[in-house]
Amino acid sequence: MKKLKTALLCLLAVAGLQAQTKPVYLDNTQPIELRVKDALSRMTLEEKVKLCTAQSKFSSHGVPRLGIPEIWMSDGPHGVRMEIMWDSWDHAGWANDSCTAFPALTCLAASWDPSMSHLFGNAIGEEARYRRKDVLLGPGVNIYRSPLNGRNFEYLGEDPYLASRMVIPYIQGVQENGVSACVKHFALNNQERWRDRIDVQISDRALYEIYLPAFKAAVTEAKVWSIMGSYNKIRGQYACENELTLNKILKGEWKFDGCVITDWGGAHNTKEAALNGLDIEMGTWTNGFTFSQSNAYDSYFLAVPYLKMLRSGEIPVSNVDEKATRILRLIFRTAMNVNKPYGSLASEEHHNVGRTVAEQGIVLLKNTTGLLPIDASKYKTIAVIGENATRKLTEGGGSSELKPKREVSALQALTEKFGADKVQFSLGYGSGAVSYDKVNKSPYDADKLRKEAVELASKSDIVIFVGGLNKNTQQDSEGDDRRSYGLPFGQNELIAELQKVNKNIVLVMLSGNAYEMPWLPKATTLVQGWYGGSEAGHAIANVLSGTVNPSGKLPFTFAAKLNDYGAHSFGAIAFPGDSIREEYKEDILVGYRWFDTKKIKPLFPFGYGLSYTTFEYGKIASDKKEYTADETIKLSFTLKNSGKVDGKEAVQVYASQPKASVVRPAKELKAFKKVFLKAGETQTVELEVKVKDLAFFNEATHNWTVEPGEFVLCNASSSADVKSQVKIQVK
Ligand code: GLC
Repeated sequence: MKKLKTALLCLLAVAGLQAQTKPVYLDNTQPIELRVKDALSRMTLEEKVKLCTAQSKFSSHGVPRLGIPEIWMSDGPHGVRMEIMWDSWDHAGWANDSCTAFPALTCLAASWDPSMSHLFGNAIGEEARYRRKDVLLGPGVNIYRSPLNGRNFEYLGEDPYLASRMVIPYIQGVQENGVSACVKHFALNNQERWRDRIDVQISDRALYEIYLPAFKAAVTEAKVWSIMGSYNKIRGQYACENELTLNKILKGEWKFDGCVITDWGGAHNTKEAALNGLDIEMGTWTNGFTFSQSNAYDSYFLAVPYLKMLRSGEIPVSNVDEKATRILRLIFRTAMNVNKPYGSLASEEHHNVGRTVAEQGIVLLKNTTGLLPIDASKYKTIAVIGENATRKLTEGGGSSELKPKREVSALQALTEKFGADKVQFSLGYGSGAVSYDKVNKSPYDADKLRKEAVELASKSDIVIFVGGLNKNTQQDSEGDDRRSYGLPFGQNELIAELQKVNKNIVLVMLSGNAYEMPWLPKATTLVQGWYGGSEAGHAIANVLSGTVNPSGKLPFTFAAKLNDYGAHSFGAIAFPGDSIREEYKEDILVGYRWFDTKKIKPLFPFGYGLSYTTFEYGKIASDKKEYTADETIKLSFTLKNSGKVDGKEAVQVYASQPKASVVRPAKELKAFKKVFLKAGETQTVELEVKVKDLAFFNEATHNWTVEPGEFVLCNASSSADVKSQVKIQVK
């Protein structure tokens, strides 16, 4: 009994001790905001300032004295990048950081299926969590304005509504793992050429109607915990230190409660960064005079120079308190989030997610003779031709580079699928090695490669050509843009030669951008395969063989020629700018908004994609004829799978306002849904459009305006294939 009493007394003593000394910020039963306040109250000025800067290439300071951990960040949007050295861009050479390479986000957008976004976000979030990363530096949602932009493959296409709907579940999926997504690059980083300084001039309407919506959805709907400022300038001020975009719009209008993180090297001025909304400065390479040196981190703009201004009173301490509050909130949501799961890395489940997203994103663009799907029993010899059938496409491309556990090539998967006895490979064309700052020449003898490929094609029953772009500089890669709209490395000539010697050619293009197609008239097939990641080959083989019925649709327009694009219709000042300034002269008419309104026929329109089956659309109907501005329009129409195989169709609804007081695009995407139908099945599809989403941004009132009057809503299988329409009145 005595022992029990003693034990009890000790227990009470310890508990009592605990109760009075456990600080609130360490008590995970307390709400985050209380813990943030308590932690802040215990920190010195120096410690608060330290939170605002990097301590290494991919981490920012914590508060060691208080046991508040550092923030560890990692690229990228398609997979968790290999570990990078402490203070250089070199790979750390770890042996345990191979990941799942998920498809590039353009492929995700092409699935037109938000459930794929959640699947993707959750899986990549699990990998980031397992790799002990608190911030995943993605997704990127910059709008596809020009097909030359080196980083379009990392983004979600040309339409703000599609990008908005597709980015929300991705962010939610990542953050369910106690990992912060970091939506980027905020804002107007729509090219790589001169990205570190180009000063974008743009109207409020284009800014609010085209370039901000996906970021606004990330912040106000997905509740993203961090956002990355871009390198470029906006109306004269750097995006990482921008009164308009960071203070007024992001933290003001959108009430963002997370952290603004620079792109690496995006900070330029202590006072501007301090007063114009920057929270964490990363990647600054210089102390203002020289490149990275041992004390570089102390000389960051928000390090010692900032501390001095706070001490002198030039900047009020409340300024650093606000930053520290946001950074502590990020830490409590991630590194100090006690409920976060443990994650997992490069699992079969994740590879299945990667393959599924890739399968759902692949777009069948042409199939005029039914050559697809390939029935291998009909062929004795199958030629696979083209460097992209074997080239690793997860390395290079810039910060989204990956070290995947596996990368299944198209050749490997097609050989598995159709049999090594039938499949023969010829390189056909070759490119140089991946590099970040120079275009490496192809080491191959192009004529020899072409002759060998044509020779193989001439004696094969069917040819599968796998080409497109790649992750080399001035291709689909960060840091620079393409210099031409054509396919590189002599592919057009090769395709023309192949078309002379074989009529059974399946063309598969792997790219993150559109390209010219001089060979299209003679082509009977065309598949846009994107960059599918670890399981790219299996996804391609499953679609080409009919194991999977393709259902992807284009997230951006494929124009016949470069100058058909709005951004390329106003001279160099509109793209790529004069190296200092750039004017977005096409304004709100980006992508199909331009092609529709200017009546320019594209090769393949936004929202276009075929299937191995066919779909019939019924007439669209609305639940009412008249609506008030706060109501929701309920739309419905039947959809029939009139073919012989099960399939999915991404149905689209576009809205237009025939008599508006301002210029408005011919039509704008306002709803979509991916519908699965068994062969012969008919369903009634129901979609909603909020009347308020029919608004335009009114520059006079600096607000969204829905004008009373007639609106036309149509159902469509692409932006250029309207099936029916219904007129409604807004009171
Ligand atoms: C790069 C990229 C950005 C990336 C960061 C860290 O310059 O612009 O997307 O997350 O730096 O690698």
